[in-house]
Amino acid sequence: MTKRTLIGPFVQIIPMTGIKLKGAISDNELAIIAEGGIVIENKAIVATGDFEDLKLKYPEAEIHVLKGNHICLPGFIDAHTHICFGGSRAQDYAMRNAGKSYLEIANAGGGIWDTVTQTRKSSIEELTKSTIKRANRHLKNGTTTLEVKSGYGLTVDEELKMLRAVKEANAKALPELISTCLAAHMLPKDFEGTEKEYLKMISEELFPILKEENLTHRVDAFIEQSAFSADEIQAYFSKASEINFDITVHADQFSAGGSKVAVDFNAISADHLEASGDTEIALLAQSDTISVALPGASIGLGCDFTPARKLLDAGAALAIASDHNPGSAPMGDLLTQASILGTFEKLTNAEVLAGITFRAAAALKLEDRGKLEAGLLADLAVFHSDNYQDILYNQGNLKPCMIWKNGELVFD
Ligand code: NIG
Ligand code: FE
Repeated sequence: MTKRTLIGPFVQIIPMTGIKLKGAISDNELAIIAEGGIVIENKAIVATGDFEDLKLKYPEAEIHVLKGNHICLPGFIDAHTHICFGGSRAQDYAMRNAGKSYLEIANAGGGIWDTVTQTRKSSIEELTKSTIKRANRHLKNGTTTLEVKSGYGLTVDEELKMLRAVKEANAKALPELISTCLAAHMLPKDFEGTEKEYLKMISEELFPILKEENLTHRVDAFIEQSAFSADEIQAYFSKASEINFDITVHADQFSAGGSKVAVDFNAISADHLEASGDTEIALLAQSDTISVALPGASIGLGCDFTPARKLLDAGAALAIASDHNPGSAPMGDLLTQASILGTFEKLTNAEVLAGITFRAAAALKLEDRGKLEAGLLADLAVFHSDNYQDILYNQGNLKPCMIWKNGELVFD
C-alpha cells in the first residue's frame, strides 16, 4: 500500500477554496478549517478536514504530529521573476537613490544592458548555480513555484544558455521553476538592424529550438518606449501564438499600451500595470488575462504601485509577484512586497493571499496547485501562529517554519 501521511493538527488551515477567480474578495469569504489536518500521498493532497475526523477515516496514515500552534496555507506561487542573471546593479540603485535619471544611469553603463553584458560573461554552470541559490532562498520564504524569465542574453545562443540553465536549475532547486522566453526584453545594442528585424530573427531562429529542446512554452515581451512598441510586437506574438506558445506581457509599466496588446492576444497575464488608467483597467477586467502587480518594482524604483484596488473593484483577477531582478526589483521577497501592496492599496487579507496562491497559479496556467484540496499538489507553507492574519500583519517578517513541496518536507 502506498504511504499516506496525515499532517496536523493545525490551528487553522486556509485552503483558499471556494473563491472566485476574478474581482474583490472580502475576508468573510476565506474558508478556515479549525483544528485541521491534511492527508497526503505521494505528491498530492488526499483530503483536508478536521484532524480528529481524518485520524478515524485514514487509520493507516502515518501521523506527522505538529506541536504548538501552526497555520497552513498553499505554498506561494511567484508568477514573475528574472532570477537567472549575472552581476549586480547595486551601482544603479545607489545612483537612482541619489537622484540620477534613467538616461544618466544608462550612460554610466547601467540598466538592463549592464546585466546582459554580465550574464553573457557568465558560464551556464554559474548561472545554474546562482539561480538555484536564489530559488531556494525564495522557498524558505514560502514560495514553492517560481516563474523565471530569460531576457539577459538577447542573442539566440545566449537566450538558449539562460533557458538551459533554468531547466538545469529546475532539476535541482527545491521550488519548481517555470521558464519563460523574454528575448524581447530590449533591442540589443549590438544587433545591426531594426526592432522588427530583431524580433523576426528571434521568432525564426530561436522559437523552433525552444520547442525542440522543450525549454519553455511561454513567450514574454516588454512593451514600452524603451523596448518594443505595440506595433513592432504584432508579428512576433502572432508567430508565437501560431506555434502555441502562451503569451505574457510586460505591460503599462511606465506608459499605457501593453495591456491592450495582452488582451488582444488573449495573453495569460499582463504584468506591471503601474501606468494603467481607467480604460486599461476596464479592458483587463473584461478579459480572461490575469493582471499581475509587481510591488517589488515599485519599491525598487520608488514609483507608484499598480492600481490593485481599482483592478479588483472593476472585476479583474489580480495576482501579485516579486519581479525579482537585479535592476528594478532587487529585494526578491514576495510575502513582504505583497503585504506592503496590501497596505498601500487597501487590499483584504483574502485578496493578497489569493494573489500569491490560486490567482498566481492562473497567471501561469497551472491548475494543479494554489489551493489546498484533494487531488492538487501537496505544496504547503506552514507558519508558527494561532491566527492567519498574523502572516500579513507581520509584513513578511513572520517566516514559514516548515515547507512541503510535492508532498515532501523540504524545509523545517
Ligand atoms: O520587470 N521592465 C522590464 N524588465 C524588468 C527589469 C529588468 C531589469 O531592470 O533588469 C522588470 O522590471
Ligand atoms: Fe519583469
